[in-house]
Amino acid sequence: MKYPNTDSQSAGLFAEAQRVLTDGGSRSTIRIAPYSIYVRSAEGKYITDVDGNRLFDFNNNYTAMLHGHAHPTLVEAAVEQIKKGTGYSFGSEAEFALADLICGRVDNFDKIRFMNSGSEAVMKAIKAARAYTGRPKIAKCENAYHGSYDFAEVSLGVQPTNLNEGDPQSQAYSEGTPQGVLDNVVVIPFDDVAAARRILEEHSSELAGVLVDPIGALMARIPYTDEFFAMISEFCESSGALFIADEVIAFRAGLDGTQGDRGLKPHLTTLGKIIGGGFPVGAVAGSADVMSVFEAGEGKAKLPHGGTYNANPVSMAAGFASMKMMDAEAFSHLNGLGDAFRRGCAEVLKLTDAEGQIHGQYSIFSITFAESDLNDASARGAVYRSSGLHQYMVQNGYWMSPGMLGVCSTIMGMSDVDQFCTTLQSGIETIREKRSDAA
Ligand SMILES: Cc1ncc(COP(=O)(O)O)c(C=O)c1O
Repeated sequence: MKYPNTDSQSAGLFAEAQRVLTDGGSRSTIRIAPYSIYVRSAEGKYITDVDGNRLFDFNNNYTAMLHGHAHPTLVEAAVEQIKKGTGYSFGSEAEFALADLICGRVDNFDKIRFMNSGSEAVMKAIKAARAYTGRPKIAKCENAYHGSYDFAEVSLGVQPTNLNEGDPQSQAYSEGTPQGVLDNVVVIPFDDVAAARRILEEHSSELAGVLVDPIGALMARIPYTDEFFAMISEFCESSGALFIADEVIAFRAGLDGTQGDRGLKPHLTTLGKIIGGGFPVGAVAGSADVMSVFEAGEGKAKLPHGGTYNANPVSMAAGFASMKMMDAEAFSHLNGLGDAFRRGCAEVLKLTDAEGQIHGQYSIFSITFAESDLNDASARGAVYRSSGLHQYMVQNGYWMSPGMLGVCSTIMGMSDVDQFCTTLQSGIETIREKRSDAA
């Protein structure tokens, strides 16, 4: 595939779409320069764009497509449900089945409620923490991504604070963010146990919850230490604030998510992506006590929660089929692929003597070319990209996000690792040759 290609149909569509779609689309996180690629269809490991180019999809809709695209089992589950209706103002068996399956797997989940996106789940979890504790503030890590709710967006995409110059300040992500939002978000530095503890203590009587994505920073690239988790748990225990684990991505780590693997006991957890079988979904789960804020009983719930498409039966049916396929063996295969890609990429860096780093956990890996040790920074901007290599991979049939993130799906196999590594190696060598020719 030639990219960029000003003569392509994608480039043309991108130009034309500006007439009716802002920036040619509806999702800031997939906008790429110089133009967005438009996809006509997707099947298995591959997407096919409007120009007929077929690309191995290593993004998998930012981790949501656990079994690749249009998996026959999920298509069948969705189609069967579509025939029975796609949305109604009643509960469904599919909703109960998915709730029962997920709650049955995770010790910290007594009850769950479904909604339509991870962002909505984070919003509801924050509101639940406020309703439960009667306190206004939440704490989150600087630069941690938790979706698009105002409070969750605070201090996203900022220069990491130099703690010698003071504590992190709440910074608006979008223009027009009310001061009241900033005043009610306490920002803590990523994985800095002492500084974060001190800052949390300063606000302890006002904090409703501490929001943490347990898979770490930069989409699983940098994990938290056990000490950081222990500090958050201790703080929540002593202050009465709720520990909110955002497992919208992290839940792909295993049967009971990253919280199971890391031995965490969050009061509330947000879910999304994989639990919808490729359809829009979000969920909040937690202890019966905390989740009772959603219960109306004989009167009004502390936190009423309406939503026309909450627990949409198509998402529920596809989600159930998707999660049912994920037994312990399937998770072990998925995470084994992540290990194999990380090992393979590290080998390529060694063979080519490239100054790069391989990051990631579970079924996610990334290749970055770092000028500084990535572990020192919490900034999204700390990822050094090789746009030349990204372009080479796209031109040679692999779609990865520009940050060179690879997201595995269960339908991948070890032969995919070998083929990818061969292309990666030739990409690094080709870029080297071009550079030395230019020098
Ligand atoms: C950790 C985390 N939380 C929340 C979200 C928001 O989910 P959604 O895009 O479904 O709104 C994301 C999305 O990538 C995420 O990575």
